[in-house]
Amino acid sequence: MDRYVSVKDIEQAALSLLPKGARDYYKSGATDEQTLAENKLAFQRLRIRPKCLVGVERCDLRTRALGSEVSMPVGISPTAMQRMAHPEGELANARAAQEAGTIFTLSTIATSSIEEVAKAAPTATKWFQLYIYNDREVTRNLVRRAEIAGFKAIALTVDTPLFGIRRADVRNKFTLPPHLRLANFDGHLSTKIQSTDGGSGLNKYVENLFDKSLTWDEVKWLKSITSLPIIAKGVLRGDDAVKAIEAGCSAILVSNHGARQLDGVPASIEALPEIVEAVKGYNVEVYLDGGVLTGTDVFKAIALGAKMVFVGRPALWGLTVGGQAGVKRMLDIFRTELEYTLQIAGTPTIADITRDMVRHESAYSKL
Ligand code: FNR
Repeated sequence: MDRYVSVKDIEQAALSLLPKGARDYYKSGATDEQTLAENKLAFQRLRIRPKCLVGVERCDLRTRALGSEVSMPVGISPTAMQRMAHPEGELANARAAQEAGTIFTLSTIATSSIEEVAKAAPTATKWFQLYIYNDREVTRNLVRRAEIAGFKAIALTVDTPLFGIRRADVRNKFTLPPHLRLANFDGHLSTKIQSTDGGSGLNKYVENLFDKSLTWDEVKWLKSITSLPIIAKGVLRGDDAVKAIEAGCSAILVSNHGARQLDGVPASIEALPEIVEAVKGYNVEVYLDGGVLTGTDVFKAIALGAKMVFVGRPALWGLTVGGQAGVKRMLDIFRTELEYTLQIAGTPTIADITRDMVRHESAYSKL
């Protein structure tokens, strides 16, 4: 795996290896993909202000999220159907997170089940991403199984009344390859994506089965059926973050779903300061995902108030190039880049990364 020196190297290799259907599904954003580009570009508009001669011999990347210690503030976001990238899919991804000492989040619509992942990575800190199905018994059952299997939190995706329009999937009539199954379901609810009439089979699946009538009241319902902490995943506004907290969420994951839902929304890193400001005074953690590709991106997000960042596609690219070893390589690259960043920026621990470490480029434009 040594030949991959950056996350972009891994991405490029993965894109050349994946079959078209899976590649397009993984890489696409919504409609014109403006936000997809902005998720990355917005990081580049931020400048780091390093401090000199601080004494950085004791560099430490460790932090905590919802009470669990992690070896670095970079975890894995939920992405669906990972066995299209590698035969071991979610199992390999979870094992890599375990090896790296960080968090793995399993998607509801995974190609490995809750129990299989728990068995594959028993000591990893695992979170379960939840979509709420029309059939509340199905939803309740997923949550109960995650609890029994030792998952430590529920990441409730709040930005998905339906799936965004991803044009490549419409053109490709995207569906799950026949040898794979949606492993968290059984005969009662299909393990397959049934129909591709009129475009993406996945969008059809979601339209048929996900509950479009959801409001913040469902968080209260969720609280009543589980004692696990709930993370609101997909918040882009300060007032929504407050609603999430008032409904009982313990953390906010600032995310635009990898720019796959609505084009034209802000980059996640642009939305972060508003949310950090809105939740001041509440005892909640704020995380971010979307477009994180380098150690300096991680640093910038932490400076703007994120406790941790998560990556979605980078793990899919890692899986594609080398299964568990590929994801581990991707995480190691983040670790190395973050270590360098902390030392050269004069902030040897995560707690040293304060708001003044980063400024928007416009602050320098008067030169
Ligand atoms: C996703 N994402 C996602 N989110 C979620 O809550 N449940 C899911 O099943 C999925 N599935 C999924 C599939 C694919 C192929 C992608 C790319 C993304 C969104 C994901 O959790 C995360 O928010 C983004 O991937 C973060 O952006 P980056 O790191 O991919 O830029």
